[in-house]
Amino acid sequence: MQNRITQLFNIKYPLIQAGMIWASGWKLASTVSNSGGLGIIGAGSMYPEILREHIQKCKKATNKPFAVNVPMLYPDIEKIMEIIIEEGVKIVFTSAGNPKTWTKHLQSHGIKVVHVVSSVKFALKSQDAGVDAVVAEGFEAGGHNGRDETTTFTLIPMVKEQLEIPLIAAGGIATGRGMLAAMVLGADAVQIGSRFVASNEASSHQNFKNKVVEAKEGDTQLTLKELAPVRMLKNKFFNEVQALYQTAPTKEELITLLGRARAKKGMFEGDMEDGELEIGQIAGLIHEIKPATEIIQEIISEFESAKQKVAQL
Ligand SMILES: Cc1cc2nc3c(=O)[nH]c(=O)nc-3n(C[C@H](O)[C@H](O)[C@H](O)COP(=O)(O)O)c2cc1C
Repeated sequence: MQNRITQLFNIKYPLIQAGMIWASGWKLASTVSNSGGLGIIGAGSMYPEILREHIQKCKKATNKPFAVNVPMLYPDIEKIMEIIIEEGVKIVFTSAGNPKTWTKHLQSHGIKVVHVVSSVKFALKSQDAGVDAVVAEGFEAGGHNGRDETTTFTLIPMVKEQLEIPLIAAGGIATGRGMLAAMVLGADAVQIGSRFVASNEASSHQNFKNKVVEAKEGDTQLTLKELAPVRMLKNKFFNEVQALYQTAPTKEELITLLGRARAKKGMFEGDMEDGELEIGQIAGLIHEIKPATEIIQEIISEFESAKQKVAQL
C-alpha cells in the first residue's frame, strides 16, 4: 500500500498513531513503527529531559521512522525543539498553535513537519506556512479539539476540495472500515488516537484503559470551550464542570475548577473520579485492550477486506 504519505514518511501503511499526552511514550511509538505504521511520541506531557529519554529509547527500540508531537502551547517549547533537532528526529507533528512559528526552522534541519488542524481555514494556513502534510481532526476526536464541531465525515472532503498537500484524517477512526471510509473521502492516511489508548503499550493508567473499554456511545462530550475545547469521558469531574456551567461562570471560575494537572491525575495516575479523561467518541467501539501490533494487523486486514466488499457493490 503505497501513496504520498507512505512515501513522505517511508512507512509501510498509511496509519499513524496519534501523539497523546500521558499515553504515547517510546514504547507505544516504537511498537507502532515496528509494525509498519508511524509511531508518535507525545511531548505534551513531558519535561524536556524526559522527552530526550523517550527519543533515545525509541531510537534503540526501532530503526523505523517515528515522530514527535509538540503542542505549541508548551512553555518549554524552545528547549523541546532544540532536543528534537539534537536527537535527529526526522518527523514532527505540531499542534495547538501557529504553523508559521516553527515549520521553516525545523525543515532547515531536514525535519518533515505536519500540522494538526480542525478547519479548512487552518488547513490552508498550514499549507501556506509550508508544512509537508496536514492532519484534519474532526469533532469526534479525543482530547483538545476545534470549537466549530465539524465532524470528520464533513471536514475531510471539505479540506480535500482545497488542499494540495497530503491530508491525514483524524477523529473517530479505530477500524479498517473507518480507515477506508476516511480514505474514500479524500484522506491519504489516518491518525488514530483513542484506539491506541487501549493498547498494552500505552503509558496511560490501567484504570483509564479499562474505562475506555467500558465506555458506550454517548459517554464522552466536548466541553470547556471557553478555555481549550476538550473531549472527555463523563465522570465526576465532568459533572462538576457541567454544574458550574449552570451558574454562568466566568473564565476564571472555570480555570479554578480545572486546576492544575487534572489530565495527569486521570489518565496517568488513574483517578477516575477527579481526573480529566480525554478520549474520543469512538471509545464506544473499543472493547478490548490489545497489543498495538495486533491492533494494526486487525485494522489493515479489515481495511483490505472492506475494500474488496465495496468493490463488489
Ligand atoms: C488521551 C489523548 C491525548 C491526546 N493528546 C494530544 C496531544 O498531546 N497533542 C495533540 O496534538 N493531540 C492530542 N490528542 C488528539 C490525538 O492526537 C488524535 O488526533 C485524536 O485522538 C484522534 O481522534 P480519535 O481519538 O477519535 O482517534 C489526544 C487524544 C487523546 C485521546
